[in-house]
Amino acid sequence: MSEDFSPNELASYWMPYTSNRAFRRRPRMISGAEGIHYIASDGRRLLDATSGLYCVNAGHCHPSIVAAIKSAAETLDYAPVFQFAHPKAFELAGRLTLMAPDGLDHVFFANSGSEAVDTAMKIALAYHRARGEGQRTRFIGRERGYHGVGFGGMSVGGIPGNRKAFGALLPGVDHMRSTYNRDKQAFSVGEPEWGAELADDLERLITLHDASNIAAVIVEPVAGSTGCLPPPKGYLDRLAGIAAKHGALLIFDEVITGFGRMGHAFAAQRYGVTPDMITFAKGLTNGAVPMSGVLVRDAIHDGVMVGPEVMPELFHGYTYSAHPLGTAAALATLDVFRDEGLFERAGEMEQGFADIMMSLRDAPNVVDIRPVGLICGIDLAARSDGAALRGYEVMQAAFHDHDLYVRVSGDTLVIAPPLISDLKDVEVIADRLRSVLAQVA
Ligand SMILES: Cc1ncc(COP(=O)(O)O)c(C=O)c1O
Repeated sequence: MSEDFSPNELASYWMPYTSNRAFRRRPRMISGAEGIHYIASDGRRLLDATSGLYCVNAGHCHPSIVAAIKSAAETLDYAPVFQFAHPKAFELAGRLTLMAPDGLDHVFFANSGSEAVDTAMKIALAYHRARGEGQRTRFIGRERGYHGVGFGGMSVGGIPGNRKAFGALLPGVDHMRSTYNRDKQAFSVGEPEWGAELADDLERLITLHDASNIAAVIVEPVAGSTGCLPPPKGYLDRLAGIAAKHGALLIFDEVITGFGRMGHAFAAQRYGVTPDMITFAKGLTNGAVPMSGVLVRDAIHDGVMVGPEVMPELFHGYTYSAHPLGTAAALATLDVFRDEGLFERAGEMEQGFADIMMSLRDAPNVVDIRPVGLICGIDLAARSDGAALRGYEVMQAAFHDHDLYVRVSGDTLVIAPPLISDLKDVEVIADRLRSVLAQVA
């Protein structure tokens, strides 16, 4: 594909979460990928500093994942999932429950993070109803949270731009404050010392709405899309204690933090806090096939397994739940994670990654850096003529002039390299970023 596209040729595709008009004027086209690199349509090799969208943990086009998908496409292209099943769905569910914290013994499959979140919310409602507490319909999320774009996830999410155009959203949702406070936490490596007491927002909101009405509280253990906000030390523990005390289910949205990004299968294990449900997606299939799911505690699953035996217990599911290409990709991906020791590798690299990221502290316009696990948010000062303009410039300059792909959200960059990267690769990412930041200063 050549670099020359006329804006008209690009008009049909309405791109997601994209400034479409600006894109059409100067496209950023990617036509290939290999390992830790993207290949631009003009043949340049770009370092992938954000694992695609935090999903390609094992590196692009991993041969064994590619082979598994090919073979699945030749053997069983599609199987009906309502009242029928294929064996690999059970195999995958079993493997996932073995990797998950103890007690999360059941898996419901979906296709995207958004669907996983809405699934978890529906399971919470169905569970409470099945045990005679059908009035527990309220959800509590958190400011700056991202839980996808379904009406459930959007409602519990807390990023204003994702909500403002879409009406009243789900009723009965409230939000805790974000755990981020730049005055108290700027340039913290890992989990900040300050902020555990913000978990008490949950107690306050539960008191306000009455515990008897609360279905669940949902948080990302590390808020990802908003720009990587690690939890303050002790925060998640405190949150879990408050939720349990009031019979509210605790949902960890691990769509980004799952599958090694935090040095463990799930961030729940890093923090020693077991929620009632975990939503996951992205890294599950290394991004190669859309697939997601929800890990569910035994008691919740068992609580819903009621009613006449020939009736579905939960009227919920997707045509493509446990799709054969997804299950094949996921099983192969889990093998790669195990055989290449990628979760351990992420843990071993964490300190070096943080040191390299913190070396950008003196680059122009950097106002905060937040590394944790193998993810790091870097906040830039907004330009005086408007928010997100500097971020956009950085993304453009990185792509066009410095052979670097990096995810930018507003004026925040999020670095999350594939777990197969080494510290030399991270140095190159940092060097390129330094040049980009100097260019757009
Ligand atoms: C924590 C979290 N939840 C949900 C989602 C939504 O996932 P998807 O875009 O696959 O619907 C994302 C996506 O980034 C996410 O980070």
